[in-house]
Amino acid sequence: MKLLVINGPNLNFLGIRDKAVYGKEDYQYLTGMIQEKAEKDGDRVECFQSNHEGAIIDRIQESYFDGTEGIVINPGAFTHYSYAIRDALESIHVPKVEVHISDVNAREEFRHLSVTKPVCDGQIVGQGLKGYLLAMDLVREIAAERKEKRD
Ligand code: DQA
Repeated sequence: MKLLVINGPNLNFLGIRDKAVYGKEDYQYLTGMIQEKAEKDGDRVECFQSNHEGAIIDRIQESYFDGTEGIVINPGAFTHYSYAIRDALESIHVPKVEVHISDVNAREEFRHLSVTKPVCDGQIVGQGLKGYLLAMDLVREIAAERKEKRD
């Protein structure tokens, strides 16, 4: 499978930002974990990170044309208010799983709402960096289920 993992603002600051919440490992460690898992599963994966809403929207739109078969996305704080990212995701019909490193539902009130969740096929929260790997598995499962329904 050709997978795309998108990380939004401040996720490049893993290992620097609030370690009690996000852990001590950095962004490079995360992309290493993701690449390693993709190799093991026989998948191809691209990790994309941006602090800019428009760049994230551009990358989501590009995935319509580049053969992407599944998306894992942590929109960071955009999760809570970016209708523009939500709309971009809505037009892409491959399996999409939203992931949050922290348990957003147990944190400040403003983190409880995800405007992107309704246009994704699943959400994983509070599992630390491992959540990305679980999200990759979920994307594959959803793709397999859809294929079964088609065949
Ligand atoms: C986050 C949770 C968001 O509320 C926050 O703004 C982030 C990271 C997470 O992975 O737990 O940047 O998406």
